[in-house]
Amino acid sequence: IRKIGVLTSGGDAPGMNAAVRAAVRRGISLGAEVVGVRRGYAGLIAGEFVDLGVSSVGDIIHRGGTFLQTARSDHFLTPEGQAQALAKAREAGIEGLVVIGGDGSFRGALRLTELGLPAVGVPATIDNDIYGTDLTIGFDTAVNTCLDAIRKIRDTATSHERTFVLEVMGRHSGWIALAAGLAGGAESILLPERPMPMEEVVTRLKRGVERGKRHTLIIVAEGVGSGFEVGRQIREMTGYDTRVMVLGHIQRGGSPTALDAMLASRMGAKAAEVLLEEGRGGLFIGVENEQMVTRPLEQVLGRRKEIPDELVDLAEILAI
Ligand code: F6P
Repeated sequence: IRKIGVLTSGGDAPGMNAAVRAAVRRGISLGAEVVGVRRGYAGLIAGEFVDLGVSSVGDIIHRGGTFLQTARSDHFLTPEGQAQALAKAREAGIEGLVVIGGDGSFRGALRLTELGLPAVGVPATIDNDIYGTDLTIGFDTAVNTCLDAIRKIRDTATSHERTFVLEVMGRHSGWIALAAGLAGGAESILLPERPMPMEEVVTRLKRGVERGKRHTLIIVAEGVGSGFEVGRQIREMTGYDTRVMVLGHIQRGGSPTALDAMLASRMGAKAAEVLLEEGRGGLFIGVENEQMVTRPLEQVLGRRKEIPDELVDLAEILAI
């Protein structure tokens, strides 16, 4: 392999730029040419390529978002779309591809590998829900964004003796809610993986208030349902002064934390090595016990990383 492409796909995540930079610079250090693909698979189909030299990825390691931009492409899900993408890659002389994204992006990477273009996945999603890696790029930054919000809300909640419901992202996964709730000392954390009846939420809430707590923070993962609905039910069941906040896409932006910038640098570089030194595709890069590992894509697709019971239990114990 002498020329590789790099693309970012799916929802953006802080650290994607650092991962692109690492793949580009490691690729060049191994003697390859590197091409950036704009707008994910949509850009691959349209042949939106940009040559990436060492300096073209300067001054991006600390930036949120993805300078290559990203998209969710329906056309790429079709055999015609995939054939077009493959043809464009061939035309541009791309012989290997680094795909930075989540589960859906990995599906595309596997498909391209099967069609003859070796592709390697780099897990980047704030959701941290990819099986086979302890962490995904962007998760730590998103959790820190939530934590910042929790701490600010805590100030005003205490002043007014209010209950706050904070809805955080996580379409199918409670990782962000669990990590932010545990680190932020929330009273209840509602997770799609571990449904908690509203009666229990309210019992815990009342117990805290009776014990003299001057605020209550309830974190709701998006996958459980609307934070506004949870707030409405709490108000109805308790009569407590309750406010709701939906954190939304603010969780997807911002400079990557040190942990994310480092993880992205290691993973991006490793992806270039797997393609250029080993000549292999159909794999993704993970981190396990702080070591970089490679795993076959087909082993992880469609499997969601479980949230650890131990952390859920601990959050409950500490929130009495
Ligand atoms: O997968 C990342 C994520 O931020 C989810 O947590 C969230 O449900 C979804 O993307 C939102 O996607 P969109 O970019 O389409 O609003």
